[in-house]
Amino acid sequence: MSTLQRPQPRPGVLSIEAYVPGKSTVPGASREFKLSANETPLGPSPRAVEAFRGAAEHLHDYPEGSARKLRDAIGKSFGLDPARIVCGAGSDDLLNLLAHAYLAPGDEAIYTAHGFRIYPIFTLAAGGKPVVAAEKNYTADVDSILAKVTDRTRIIFLANPNNPTGTYLPFDEIKRMHRGLPPHVLLVLDAAYAEYVGRNDYESGIELVATTDNTVMTRTFSKIHGLAALRLGWMYGPAHVVDAVNRIRGPFNVNTPAMLAGIASIEDAAHLEKSRAHNARWLPWLTQEIGKLGLEVTPSVANFILIHFPKSMGRTSRDADAFLSARGLILREVSSYDLPAALRLTVGSEEANRLVVVALAEFMGKKA
Ligand SMILES: Cc1ncc(COP(=O)(O)O)c(C=O)c1O
Repeated sequence: MSTLQRPQPRPGVLSIEAYVPGKSTVPGASREFKLSANETPLGPSPRAVEAFRGAAEHLHDYPEGSARKLRDAIGKSFGLDPARIVCGAGSDDLLNLLAHAYLAPGDEAIYTAHGFRIYPIFTLAAGGKPVVAAEKNYTADVDSILAKVTDRTRIIFLANPNNPTGTYLPFDEIKRMHRGLPPHVLLVLDAAYAEYVGRNDYESGIELVATTDNTVMTRTFSKIHGLAALRLGWMYGPAHVVDAVNRIRGPFNVNTPAMLAGIASIEDAAHLEKSRAHNARWLPWLTQEIGKLGLEVTPSVANFILIHFPKSMGRTSRDADAFLSARGLILREVSSYDLPAALRLTVGSEEANRLVVVALAEFMGKKA
């Protein structure tokens, strides 16, 4: 049968390069440290695990479709109106829904050169056209973004801080970008790593959502909450955006165990603080120690760093990846982000962090 006679996906779908997650295991290593997915080394709150187990009694019941109790818990914790929150199966789910709700065929969505890879995928999946704005020093650049806006632009996707660079834009810059956007353009601030940022000039997006009609913020339970396996995220937006997303989301897009674990996690402020403090201690340590080895590290405000390797034979990112993998240290290869000479390292446990520095020193022929 000719391919024309069989069902064809919409234009654009087959030009999508499917998202390839980082490695989670390596053959032959006796112990493994997965530092490739920006997961928390401290794991979830024990209270979240207990809540998850409790949900086993109710697996035959459909979830409560609006995630009301979870939205209430998020609203209470952040001081937000729960009616303006939508929960999803990971923040991925919400980013996808926003693309589908706001992009018609040929509409443009802007993202930045080393921006999160999922944005062009969801844009193409919705029939839209991804448009890339240049970055400066591995950081989003407001002027480049604004220069890419046309009358077909419908969405700006900006991860703040960005994955995989770990860089961020201060709130002043975000506000300047917003001021430069036509009112019909939706600004999506993806704040997956917001909890880790310890800078006074950073704002996750809550204020801009509260005061404008075209800004949405997305958040996740996969990172600092340590609930990546459950797929749980949320967005805060203007009532009209919430209404549009609620019309097209799956009616039971958040499962009960995830909801209950999410509520317990939000209520365990002490565990979240422990995870934040762990990161605040080890992020600068890794940046410094790896920098001392003669490797360039992009300054990060998140729970990972981008390490740049030389081009010389035996010292490339590929060589480093093989060297570290053989020792059970699994980092993220980022050539799909147009960063072929870099590896991304998630801040791990103290043991993992120390092992990485010792191994990198050996790789570079230096003493740690
Ligand atoms: C910037 C950014 N946004 C969104 C996500 C998706 O997270 P979730 O697990 O909530 O779908 C990630 C995950 O790596 C991310 O790095």
